Amino acid sequence: MEITPGFLKDMPKIELHVHLESMMPGEMLERFAARQGKQLPRPAKELYHCSADDLSNFLAFLDSICAYVGTTEELSEVAEHAALESQRENILYMEAILNPTHWPQFTVPEIIQAVTAGFDRGQAAGGTDCRFTLSLSRTQTAEEAMELVEQMKAHRTPRLAGLSIDGNEILTGRTGERFRPAFLAAKAAGFGLTVHAGESSGPEGVRDAMDLLGADRLDHGVRAAEEPELVRRLAENQVPLNICLTSNLTLLYRCPEDHPLRRLLDAGAAVTLNRDDPTFLDGLTLTKELRRASSFGAMTGEELLNCQRTAACAAFCGEETKAALLAALADFEARL
Ligand code: ADE
Ligand code: ZN
Repeated sequence: MEITPGFLKDMPKIELHVHLESMMPGEMLERFAARQGKQLPRPAKELYHCSADDLSNFLAFLDSICAYVGTTEELSEVAEHAALESQRENILYMEAILNPTHWPQFTVPEIIQAVTAGFDRGQAAGGTDCRFTLSLSRTQTAEEAMELVEQMKAHRTPRLAGLSIDGNEILTGRTGERFRPAFLAAKAAGFGLTVHAGESSGPEGVRDAMDLLGADRLDHGVRAAEEPELVRRLAENQVPLNICLTSNLTLLYRCPEDHPLRRLLDAGAAVTLNRDDPTFLDGLTLTKELRRASSFGAMTGEELLNCQRTAACAAFCGEETKAALLAALADFEARL
C-alpha cells in the first residue's frame, strides 16, 4: 500500500481526540471580538503564534481566547465550522472535547444546545458527523464533577457522547478517587468515558484512569510506555490510545526519539491518531498528522488504515454508525 499524498487525503478518517477550543480560526475570533468592542492581542493571522510549549500557559491562553465567543449563536458557529472544516479532509466522524471551565460565559445546558445545533447544521450542510464529550478540569471538585454529570443527563442530546477529563495533572497530583463517583454516574447513564492520562501524568495516571475511573479510552496514554507491564496490559485489553503525535512532540517530548509511538504499535496497542490542538499546532490537519506518523513512526499504509478501524470501533456512537464507518473503510481499501 503506497503512501501517496492522495492516499492520505482520500482515506476516510475518524478522529476521537481534538479540542473544540483549539478549532477556532483567528479571523472568526476577531469578528466575534469586534462585536463585543474588543480587540485580539495580536492580528488574527498571528493569534496562534505564541509559545505553546508549556501546558499550563497553553491552558490559560485557551481561557483567554474562549472569552471572545460572546453568544450561544457564536458557539454554534464554532461547532458548525469544525464540522465543515473536518469534512474537507474526509474526516467522516469526529468527536470533539469541550471543557466548560474554558467557557464561564455559558451555562452547561447552553453549551450542550449550542454545540449540538452547530454540529447539526454542519452535518446538514455536508460536513462531518460530529459528537462531543464534556470535559472536567483536574482542578475541579468532586461536587462540581457530579453536577456536570447531572446536567449532562438532564440536557442530553444525541451529539453528547460522553464525559472526559483534561487539564494539567502536574498541578493537582492524582485525582482518580476524587472523580470516581462522577465517572461511575456517567457510565451508569450510558455515557462514554475518556480520560487525558499519560501526558502530564506518568504510568500511574494511566492506571488510575482504568482502575478508578473505568475509562473506555485514554487520550494520549503515551507515557504508559515507561512501564512495559502496563503496555502489555493495554495491548491485551485493547484499550484505545488516542495519540496526538504532533502535539506530543511540541508539548511533551523534548527529544523526538523519545516518543513511543513505534514501540506501542509493535507491542500491539490499539492506537488512533489525532490532532489534539490544531490551531496551536500551525493549523495541523489530520492528513498531516498521518503523514508525520508515516515518516516519524515508520507507519505503513495498512497501519494507518488500521488506526481508522480502531477509532471506528472505539467511537462513542451507535452500532449502525460504526458499521457504516467500517464499511467506508473497507470500500476505500477495496478500491486501492
Ligand atoms: N486541553 C487542551 N489540550 C490539552 C492537552 N494537550 N492536555 C491537557 N489538556 C488539554
Ligand atoms: Zn487533548
